[in-house]
Amino acid sequence: MSTPSTILVTGATGKLGTAVCRALIARGLNVRATDLRYVPDFPTRVELGDLRDELFVYRVVEGCDAVVHLGNHPNAFVGISPQRLLAENTAMNANVFQATVDLGIRSIVFASSVQATIRRDRLTSGPPFEIPYLPLDGDLPPNPGLNTYGQSKEYAERMLRLFVAADPTLSATAIRFPMLVTEWLHKRLTTGTMALGFVDFTECTAHLYMEDAGRLVVDVIERRLAGYHQYFPALTMQLKGYPLGTWVAEKYPSAVLRRPVEELDSLVDIDAITRELGWRPTQRLVVQVG
Ligand SMILES: NC(=O)c1ccc[n+]([C@@H]2O[C@H](COP(=O)([O-])OP(=O)(O)OC[C@H]3O[C@@H](n4cnc5c(N)ncnc54)[C@H](O)[C@@H]3O)[C@@H](O)[C@H]2O)c1
Repeated sequence: MSTPSTILVTGATGKLGTAVCRALIARGLNVRATDLRYVPDFPTRVELGDLRDELFVYRVVEGCDAVVHLGNHPNAFVGISPQRLLAENTAMNANVFQATVDLGIRSIVFASSVQATIRRDRLTSGPPFEIPYLPLDGDLPPNPGLNTYGQSKEYAERMLRLFVAADPTLSATAIRFPMLVTEWLHKRLTTGTMALGFVDFTECTAHLYMEDAGRLVVDVIERRLAGYHQYFPALTMQLKGYPLGTWVAEKYPSAVLRRPVEELDSLVDIDAITRELGWRPTQRLVVQVG
């Protein structure tokens, strides 16, 4: 019997990391977990360390078959300055990608973000939102604006593309995650009726449940497609009481419609992901607005 592959997961004890580790273990893969934070009763041993320390990163990456890199400051509201966020995320990403390539590991999955592509630095309470076309997909051009969290993700994607240009046999995938739905968020958004003014339309209400995100990461690892790949795995909310055609016209009047809105059920096209990986999401947020 062959030994199962060992997958390094950075940011392992975080919200997404926990879902990814559980999904990898459920598929019979060995997990090497690393994070700054210890949590009790984690499903596997966690190697504590700081991804800003490049020597630690070489040590923890060595001997793995693939790297799932999730360890970052996860949004612009973590309580540090914008410039420090950009510098530290970029240091973590450069350390992990460089060590992975230097140590001859052929497969990297990175948690990018929709914020690399849709500006959140000029949040307004209404339109126009900067949506270039609908339905959205993984090919959206980068446009983080002044949001340094989004900038850090955009630059990480660029680093991965450059590593693959130097060696096209490498498998590197950036997953542009939307808002990830935890149990807590699910309850908060689906209990009772939500005032329309509280719905955030900036990213077209794109979201993904944590378990579906974990399963996607494992599918990418198992499929191991050579080259650079970029996915936007998301569904948009079903807003009961506010038909899709109405909010497209009201919120995104300048977006180019690539398909008639009557044909759409969600404003994100995930067909390419399903075609390449066989993955599809199993849960969607249904919110009563009024
Ligand atoms: N949650 C979302 O809605 C969302 C959306 C898009 C992208 N993402 C991305 O997914 C990844 C995981 O996000 P999450 O929601 O699980 O956040 P999280 O904060 O729960 O997890 C991030 C983990 O990274 C670790 N970390 C941070 N700095 C570190 C360092 N210097 N060294 C080692 N570990 C460090 C943290 O301790 C934490 O456990 C992040 O890269 C985030 O940017 C998340």
